[in-house]
Amino acid sequence: MKTFALSPSSGAGTPDVAGFFDPRTFSVQYVVSDPATRQCAIIDPVHDFDEKSGATATHHADELLTYVKEQGLEVQWILDTHPHADHFSAAQYLREKTGAPTAIGEKVVEVQKLWKEIYHWPDFPADGSQWDRLFAEGDAFPIGELEVRVMFSPGHTLASITYMIGDAAFVHDTIFQPDFGTARADFPGGDAHQLWQSIQDILALPDETRLFTGHDYMPDGREPQWESTVREQRETNKHLAGGVTEDDYAAMRDERDSELPMPKLILHSLQVNTLGGRLPEPEANGKRYLKIPLDALEGAAWE
Ligand SMILES: [Fe+2]
Repeated sequence: MKTFALSPSSGAGTPDVAGFFDPRTFSVQYVVSDPATRQCAIIDPVHDFDEKSGATATHHADELLTYVKEQGLEVQWILDTHPHADHFSAAQYLREKTGAPTAIGEKVVEVQKLWKEIYHWPDFPADGSQWDRLFAEGDAFPIGELEVRVMFSPGHTLASITYMIGDAAFVHDTIFQPDFGTARADFPGGDAHQLWQSIQDILALPDETRLFTGHDYMPDGREPQWESTVREQRETNKHLAGGVTEDDYAAMRDERDSELPMPKLILHSLQVNTLGGRLPEPEANGKRYLKIPLDALEGAAWE
């Protein structure tokens, strides 16, 4: 299976984008680098977890670090697009390894408030202090000589953001590859109409913008893919092409989502990812424990 691909820079102001696919969680992690200065950012890194044994590992995050070292890159940022519901973020692990700051969208505090209730964590500071920086719509910052612009892209989660880096947009769980469609919008805080609007904002970017998605589910057994263009998505995305209206889309999305079981790691992942990718503190015996609320996600479909 193809688990790595490099999408090269096309000239000044455009990044090299290395994509690393994790087949366990169908997630794509990125190292985005400025060829001129060798500065880079890591986006949506995965901290490995095996729910059957409870084991954690850093194989995927270490693979990113190996690439960074081999390419002579320097990590300036560790970025998440949203609090993921299907894998642990490796942001903290990579922060410890590289010293680079972590960041996510500022609305993550609203997600923290939702999950603080669900996990019954009365003392949990739902204030975003678990990251070094929280980004708002329109924020801009550099990676080397590349300009990064933050777009607020809610819908899949209420905190989702897109990182626009030169000609590359990291659209996470909004649009998937054209043959798979778009992301679900039924997690706590999700909204199909908001997702539609966020997708319209992405499709309004220049036609040849490279879009890098956060997951690929390999329909019909094809190889993993994670890169497309705005033009391809507008013309061929199975949920968007052919004159689909916002109401058509939201109705399709809500109907489809009502039949989808929850991701198997949603209750595991959110308690790590609302902590910025920190594992729970060890108890007196030195072991860490996850807390699984029962009957917390009302109306969720059974597998
Ligand atoms: Fe997600």
